[in-house]
Amino acid sequence: METAAYKLKSPLRTLCENVKDSDIGKEFTLKGWVMRYRDHGGLIFIDLRDYSGIMQVVFDENLDKESFKTAKKIKNEYVVSITGTVGKRPEGTENTELKTGMIEISAMRIQIINASKTLPFQIDEEADVNEFTRLKYRYLDLRSKRLKDNLIFRSKFNHIIRRFLDDKGFLDIETPFLTKSTPEGSRDFLVPSRLNRGHFFALPQSPQLFKQILMVGGFEKYYQIVRCFRDEDLRADRQPEFTQLDMEMSFVEMEDIMSLTEELFKTIFESLLGIKLDLPFKVIDYDDAVNIYGSDKPDTRFELLITSLSDIFSNSSMNLFKNTISNGGTIKAICFQGGSNILSRKDIDELLAVTKDFGAKGLAWTKVADNSALEGGISKFISENEKISVIEKIGAKSGDIIFYQADEKKTANMVLGRLRLYLAKKYKLIPENRFELLWVVDFPLFEYSEEEKKTVAVHHPFTAPAEKDLEMLESNPLSAKSDSYDLVLNGEEIGGGSIRIHNPKLQSKIFDILAISHEEARLKFGFLLDALSFGAPPHGGIAFGIDRILMLLRNENSIRDVIAFPKTQKAYCPLSDAPSAVKDKQIKELGIRLSDTRI
Ligand code: AMO
Repeated sequence: METAAYKLKSPLRTLCENVKDSDIGKEFTLKGWVMRYRDHGGLIFIDLRDYSGIMQVVFDENLDKESFKTAKKIKNEYVVSITGTVGKRPEGTENTELKTGMIEISAMRIQIINASKTLPFQIDEEADVNEFTRLKYRYLDLRSKRLKDNLIFRSKFNHIIRRFLDDKGFLDIETPFLTKSTPEGSRDFLVPSRLNRGHFFALPQSPQLFKQILMVGGFEKYYQIVRCFRDEDLRADRQPEFTQLDMEMSFVEMEDIMSLTEELFKTIFESLLGIKLDLPFKVIDYDDAVNIYGSDKPDTRFELLITSLSDIFSNSSMNLFKNTISNGGTIKAICFQGGSNILSRKDIDELLAVTKDFGAKGLAWTKVADNSALEGGISKFISENEKISVIEKIGAKSGDIIFYQADEKKTANMVLGRLRLYLAKKYKLIPENRFELLWVVDFPLFEYSEEEKKTVAVHHPFTAPAEKDLEMLESNPLSAKSDSYDLVLNGEEIGGGSIRIHNPKLQSKIFDILAISHEEARLKFGFLLDALSFGAPPHGGIAFGIDRILMLLRNENSIRDVIAFPKTQKAYCPLSDAPSAVKDKQIKELGIRLSDTRI
């Protein structure tokens, strides 16, 4: 990755990549780490690494005995200062992969600035080192090209965002970390207050309430690149503390926020990747996303679309299908093109186990034979007419395999959506180096949570209902849609936001539907409700998960690879050993007693 040239304070030091092929014969002093060391008897070669890149240095016993003796003592990752002259590498020893691969430094002087213990793993070598060890010695892993390039990219990415938003008149305003619980719906990280015993701050899950209050305070365009804290189960795309680009605007509509976002991403992609994005982005309704892709964050880089076959099977002789439909369920299917040549019988059996893990009751399948008839699997239970209709509706060709789900609509979509992703990953159906950005809109405002046994907000309780559905709030709130939007990149949710409720009466109605009592609402977000009652302007915003975006743009598998100091899946930092036990005195001062013995 290109690094910007910067002026050196000390004229004595030159960065490796600032030495050019045209400098042959000139003398330079380089300072950095010994990356590779090869002792060839009378010649010692080292690869010297600094912030800019790598330079080969050669020590010749006949050139300078003293420096050769010192060079004998150095080991990997020693910090050294080397003075020497630039020479052309002998023919056949050039390295075309390095910017400095045509030249080398013939060392005349070397000074060992600092020694290094034996390394727990070789830098830049990925194999066989577990992530815990990498995180424990993060400063060593950070010296690797991959992580260094990721963090340089991250810094440039943030810079582009700031410049773009600054040019558009946005203000970068900080909001508190020691605050009250916010409504994103995860578990809070709590901070006990020493001065207010028995009381706790919550670290913000996002700056949601404060950014809305900034709008009430008259700031029309706010943004912040801000840390958010959520105590949730971690995955490759989740960290307990992560970074959002958070934005809010007054007197705007959904379309304004969406088009500003598109312009921002166009600028980012063009400046950082040289990719021209087509605007406007594709927009998919939530219902279509779920029905066709089995997910509210559809990956549209490949087909394997879900088709409803309920109309074909409503009178089927196959009882499972018929009964599922008459009990209010659905029959859905995906068609794996050319699947017969790819999947063995054993592979199909494995898919059954995989889908059971997703929550499926079973996995029905049929192959499409040469004469375009269905065969194998459940084909013997379905009529000729049904077979013809299935092939026609799903657009199947000979050699394809069709997988069916008969279940409640939600489960059938979810299982086929996950199977779709599983097949695409396992059988490499996803084109590489392709970025598909799209909006998902028309989310339901509420959903019924089986876990909490109540109606909950799909986004958060301050999301405005779609104007056209206002009346539904009385009659059928679960069918009302919201003015919210998610941005999806390659099947990952990278951002989400909404137009907010600015009318206290409407806000009360939403709390009623969510069964949040007046007292509870006051206790949790009284300060926002007060603010909304003092002439709040119409407003809306969005927040983007910066770590996730960077993970995708850098083609990494985990957001940990784009964060300088991430935590493990167990929310633990092996580098600093946090969280860790504290002294009893500290706990006492906070007015807290631990109930269990510490783990
Ligand atoms: P939301 O909760 O959707 O919205 O978060 C916005 C984006 O943040 C990213 N994200 C995460 N990234 C890494 N680790 C996590 N644990 C994590 N959780 C979320 C996702 C997500 O799309 N206040 C609202 C925004 C608004 O309405 O303006 C909010 O926080 O990419």
